[in-house]
Amino acid sequence: MFANKKVVLGISGGIAAYKAADIASWLTKNGADVRCVMTKHATEFISPVVLQALTGHAVVQEEFVTGPGWGIVHIDTAADADLLVIIPATANIIAKIANGIADDALTSTVLAATCPCMVAPAMNTNMYRNAATQHNLQVLAERGWHILKPACGHLACGTVGEGKLPAVEVIEEEITGLLLPRRDFAGQKVLVTAGPTSEPIDPVRYISNRSSGKMGYAIAEAAVARGAEVVLVSGRTNLQPPKGVRLVNIGSAQQMLEAVLAEYETCDVVIKAAAVADYRVATPADHKIKKTDDTDELVLHLVKNPDILAELGRRKQHQLLVGFAAETNNVEEYAKKKLVKKNTDLLVANDVSRPDAGFDVDTNQVIIFSADGGKITPPLASKRKTADYILDAVQDKLAARSK
Ligand code: PMT
Repeated sequence: MFANKKVVLGISGGIAAYKAADIASWLTKNGADVRCVMTKHATEFISPVVLQALTGHAVVQEEFVTGPGWGIVHIDTAADADLLVIIPATANIIAKIANGIADDALTSTVLAATCPCMVAPAMNTNMYRNAATQHNLQVLAERGWHILKPACGHLACGTVGEGKLPAVEVIEEEITGLLLPRRDFAGQKVLVTAGPTSEPIDPVRYISNRSSGKMGYAIAEAAVARGAEVVLVSGRTNLQPPKGVRLVNIGSAQQMLEAVLAEYETCDVVIKAAAVADYRVATPADHKIKKTDDTDELVLHLVKNPDILAELGRRKQHQLLVGFAAETNNVEEYAKKKLVKKNTDLLVANDVSRPDAGFDVDTNQVIIFSADGGKITPPLASKRKTADYILDAVQDKLAARSK
């Protein structure tokens, strides 16, 4: 299953270190080339000999190696890796990585790695919940790390709570997802809208909003990775379009409406992550509006923009329609109302009052409501990971339809 895949398995000094042996064994049996890197403390919990025997490779413990076969160990270990996972990840190793510290073989290897990375935190509940640990995990999530949520249960310190290493099967499933991306959208055309609209006031000014496009671009990237043909209709952003998408740049809501309608009939899935201006200037000036000395006010006459999502909801035939709702209060109530009013199949509710979710941050936490009454609550995660949660919900809907 994992032929030609190189996995760096980092092990830090927690009681769950012995479970890394199961993962090393499973990866190796499935054909992966597994390179274990242990911290000094990890060797107190499990012998490197065990991991060497399971993987067939010497375990990296030191950065400085002399004699035959020497090399720059952390660089060689990280080179060409398809995945780097740290199982278990202690609060200490997470803190070091979040701060870019490279003072041993594992942290140096992490800094040299360019592949997808994942941590499986495991520690005492208070240490896990400590603001410093949570902050460090968020830093990693913002950098695109995959963070496994610890399980609840009996901990080595004698308490019961959050902080347990997830079951080996859960870790295996996560690793499989990272090593073998799904192609479950192959043959599907997915249209994603992203970013803000810009409503002109005059030739040099416009009304816009705080959307950076990150959420929509992450969805487009995830859909391409999962095999979809992707059209990304985007307002003004500073982002590079993901490889493989067809980008359609727009300015105003009216232009977004036209771009979306031109594609709609041939789309299988439409995901409207864009922040569309509800109002536009009725008659934008055709010259720059000049400041005058006789008044301190400038009055703009605004008129309602077309509601693109509602229009798509009205015209919906075979398409699966996903809307977003950016809210600052009564999030669930308003989101459910939008789902019904705009006739969407799924509605992604976004509490944009949170500092770690919504506009222009790299993480998000959403609630996904389904027209059949279902509700999914993914954890706080990078926008890229959140995109996968949304696409998973879309897949569930498509599967239910074809039954
Ligand atoms: O771009 P980022 O910085 O990453 O931020 C992400 C985000 C906060 C913009 C995104 O997660 C999000 O919540 N997008 C929806 C923003 C929004 O316009 O929400 P709304 O509640 O005002 O609109 C509800 C839905 O109707 C949205 O799908 C919107 O695209 C759509 N809409 C709204 C108004 C309108 N005239 N036409 C529309 O199609």
